[in-house]
Amino acid sequence: MKALILVGGFGTRLRPLTLTVPKLLIDLGNKPMILHQIEALKSIGVTEVILAINYQPEAMTRFLKDYESKLGMKITCSQETEPLGTAGPLALAKDKLIDESGSPFFVLNSDVICEFPLEKMIKFHKAHGGEASIMVTEVDEPSKYGVVVMEETTGKVERFVEKPKTFVGNKINADIYLLNPSVLDRIEFRPTSIEREVFPKIAADRKLYAMVLTGLRMDIGQPRDYITGLELYLDALRNKGSSKLSSGSHIRGNVLIDESAVIEGGCVFGPDVAIGPECVVEEGVTLSRCTVMRGARIDKHACISNCIIGWNITVGQGACIEDMIILGEDVYVYDKIACNGCVPPS
Ligand code: GDD
Ligand code: MG
Repeated sequence: MKALILVGGFGTRLRPLTLTVPKLLIDLGNKPMILHQIEALKSIGVTEVILAINYQPEAMTRFLKDYESKLGMKITCSQETEPLGTAGPLALAKDKLIDESGSPFFVLNSDVICEFPLEKMIKFHKAHGGEASIMVTEVDEPSKYGVVVMEETTGKVERFVEKPKTFVGNKINADIYLLNPSVLDRIEFRPTSIEREVFPKIAADRKLYAMVLTGLRMDIGQPRDYITGLELYLDALRNKGSSKLSSGSHIRGNVLIDESAVIEGGCVFGPDVAIGPECVVEEGVTLSRCTVMRGARIDKHACISNCIIGWNITVGQGACIEDMIILGEDVYVYDKIACNGCVPPS
């Protein structure tokens, strides 16, 4: 079985992290975002993942080569020369997506991290016999999403309305599709939107079905959502009884520390903290609701809260960094510097 992940956009809302690293390679819970998706796909038997990309191909390709062998699956890129939207990339990768058995394939938007009930989705898809399945979830504010009106009992979609101007319902497209190869015959090779041009037509033909996604789902495109996403992800690890979470008298709530990180005494961590590989955290440091990525060095008695600390950063002694400060790569924060808040509430 195959899968395509749509990896467009520049991730501008996560700058400066995305100035040097493609958004999907940014870690969430000490793991590049895209790996959460690829591992979930692999676990249900997907053997080939195609990344539909339109920028930073070099960084992606380097990363993929590394993980292709680690994961034992084929991961390729399909690169656009101009942005083809959310459907055009499927037309571009058509030959790669079709296999001899004619089996359906997954399509994922890259922003999504959830519990990935993909096995359940395959069963759902086989049972309804339509042409396409989409995962949906309920939200309070549906206007910035694709909204689905469906028959509750069968899941048959009556209407699909992308970013509706007036209220049509609160079940939204949750970024995961399972499509029969015949859907490819509906897509022209040009910049085009699956949500505006393809799903409404399949729904009109009564061949689009929606399955309600339960449990954790997050969209981590913005700093505040990223921190909330980390919280949800660590919670999910806790609920699964994961042994990766740290424990001890210096730990408050959920904290994930890579085994290669060096942690000195007298620190207090948590809640909701991830400390990445090769980090050094000196004595008396306080960390809460934050990620500290690979190679960072946090000097004595520094304090970090509600922030994203990127790669190879040094935070000087006694510095205090709070409230949505995002540091990208190779930044040096001087001793005793206090920085507070630079992203307004969203
Ligand atoms: N390769 C490629 N080329 N990918 C693209 C392009 C492109 O030109 N344009 C967008 N994408 C990718 C994005 O990276 C993302 O993974 C996906 O397509 C969806 O685009 P977004 O720009 O993130 O759309 P959205 O968030 O406004 O809305 C989408 O997601 C919602 C749920 O998060 C829609 O699918 C909505 O229907 C949905 O509810
Ligand atoms: Mg999005």
